[in-house]
Amino acid sequence: NLLNVEKEPVRVLVTGAAGQIGYAIVPMIAKGVMLGPDQPVILHLLDIEPAAEALNGVKMELIDAAFPLLKGVIATTDPIEACMGVNIAVMVGGFPRKEGMERKDVMSKNVSIYKAQASALEKHAAEDCKVLVIANPANTNALILKEFAPSIPEKNITCLTRLDHNRALGLISESLDVQVSDVKNVIIWGNHSSTQYPDVNHATVRTSSGEKPVRELVSDDKWLNAEFITTVQQRGTAIIKARKLSSALSAASAACDHIRDWVLGTPEGTWVSMGVYSDGSYGIQPGLVYSFPVTCEKGKWSIVQGLKIDEFSRSKMDATAKELVEEKSLAYSCLN
Ligand code: NAD
Ligand code: LMR
Repeated sequence: NLLNVEKEPVRVLVTGAAGQIGYAIVPMIAKGVMLGPDQPVILHLLDIEPAAEALNGVKMELIDAAFPLLKGVIATTDPIEACMGVNIAVMVGGFPRKEGMERKDVMSKNVSIYKAQASALEKHAAEDCKVLVIANPANTNALILKEFAPSIPEKNITCLTRLDHNRALGLISESLDVQVSDVKNVIIWGNHSSTQYPDVNHATVRTSSGEKPVRELVSDDKWLNAEFITTVQQRGTAIIKARKLSSALSAASAACDHIRDWVLGTPEGTWVSMGVYSDGSYGIQPGLVYSFPVTCEKGKWSIVQGLKIDEFSRSKMDATAKELVEEKSLAYSCLN
């Protein structure tokens, strides 16, 4: 019976796999949360020498969990071995920020990692490998990876802003006391930083009398135009303050959402936010990895076109683009 033939395993690289997000995401991948409940996987786990023993502990636990979909685990400190033949690369390796830091404060440590790993991926990953950069500053690390891996198609290199997107959905659902699964089409524009612009102008809620715009249901415009935006922008900081560690389970879950929708497609009528290489849409200059609303089909994303942008949104979209231009030049000065 053809239907019972198992799919070929997909090789998924997780860098920084001995860290917090690594520990949260590997069981999700091994349980099919990222690629589907019928998709076998082989995990490639990379970390650095000081974390080698901890990484081996993660490998032991993965074996002990006896995940039926998990067909192999490679745990290594060698980037070449780690990147060999991978179809999906989830780039978490790097240093997280601590209380009092902005995400760009981890720039000098992290961009050089992305320059070095760009060439390992370019030379050894499977053709058409899809890359998701999570480590901060996520947009700029993804841009550096793209620039130092010129043979990887630019459409294959993305960064995570789905966490911010999910935070915006969560906050709307909380404030309206509706199910989060009934809220859709928020947008995160720009940088995964405190200048990002969470936009609800096109967002809707499913109600018993059909889909309603969030702007119609939330009567408090002042809240939507101020506190809602700053709460999403500052949520990472609030979590660091509360946990003394940066977000991990929500970041891991958002990363699974990002890859799942990219590979398997977004539901009809729904878009998600992804940091992608700008093609000039909405007047955002090419040469930046910027978060846009996208729909995905057959493993390809496309930026949602034709959304009306008012003056308020325009200025916020431009401010976060300006920060990305500055980060880009800071990144290059760190690399020189
Ligand atoms: P962590 O410190 O717990 O783990 C990071 C791991 O990376 C460590 O095990 C470390 O040894 C490893 N590492 C360092 N250099 C490496 C290299 N060259 N190659 C491979 N591995 C390397 O940190 P974490 O909490 O898991 O966070 C990881 C990154 O993700 C941070 O930069 C954090 O700021 C970022 N982050 C981004 C988002 C997002 O939404 N984009 C959300 C949460 C966290
Ligand atoms: C987050 O948004 O939670 C992460 O980027 C961690 C951080 O530094 O805020």
